Amino acid sequence: MPKSRVTEYKVNPLFVNRWSPRAFTGEAIDDATLFQFFEAARWAPSAYNSQPWRFIYAKNDSEQWDTFLGLLSEFNQSWAKTASALVIILAKTTFIPPGKTDPIRTGSHIFDAGAAWGSLALQAAHDGWFTHAIGGYDKTKAREVLGIPEDYILEAAVAIGKQGDKSSLPEGLCEREVASSRLPLSQLVAENTFNFKT
Ligand SMILES: Cc1cc2nc3c(=O)[nH]c(=O)nc-3n(C[C@H](O)[C@H](O)[C@H](O)COP(=O)(O)O)c2cc1C
Repeated sequence: MPKSRVTEYKVNPLFVNRWSPRAFTGEAIDDATLFQFFEAARWAPSAYNSQPWRFIYAKNDSEQWDTFLGLLSEFNQSWAKTASALVIILAKTTFIPPGKTDPIRTGSHIFDAGAAWGSLALQAAHDGWFTHAIGGYDKTKAREVLGIPEDYILEAAVAIGKQGDKSSLPEGLCEREVASSRLPLSQLVAENTFNFKT
């Protein structure tokens, strides 16, 4: 368990062992490993079981890799270039309820896609891999380049890899390569009313 992570209550170590490093080894990832992570995401809960999450990926030994990497901000490219795979997470904004013919908006597609990403990240951690979500990428360009229709919104991208040595990171990132802590539960959970501690 990372030293910076102390829990107030006992939880499965998986929850605190998952964190987002930036140093990756650059090794290749095979489909069976990667698809285990998508499989975990697939079983997330969603409103009406609408399953709005979609994943578009490129592996670092594929032709599309440079295209995916090129979508990231310069900062994110500087470290994510040694990831094994990049995944763009989408959320479908509409769905057709059972027995109906017209699509509706559930309004929970973002929430649901977030749950799926959480499962993906935890499965990866369970299997000894690391994930790092990335909001800093060009979503307009990604929509165009990857042919994403209008009724899907682009959520985070995710870098997946095996943890590398932090000395391999670009200048300034080495000292930031530590697992972060969290707000205390008293600031996050309230009983009966909105009486969070500050
Ligand atoms: C939606 C989302 C977008 C993020 N965008 C970036 C990003 O563009 N670049 C980056 O280095 N980290 C990014 N992160 C990583 C967060 O900074 C990190 O998850 C957070 O500090 C908590 O740390 P932990 O994941 O190690 O527990 C993002 C995380 C999420 C969930």
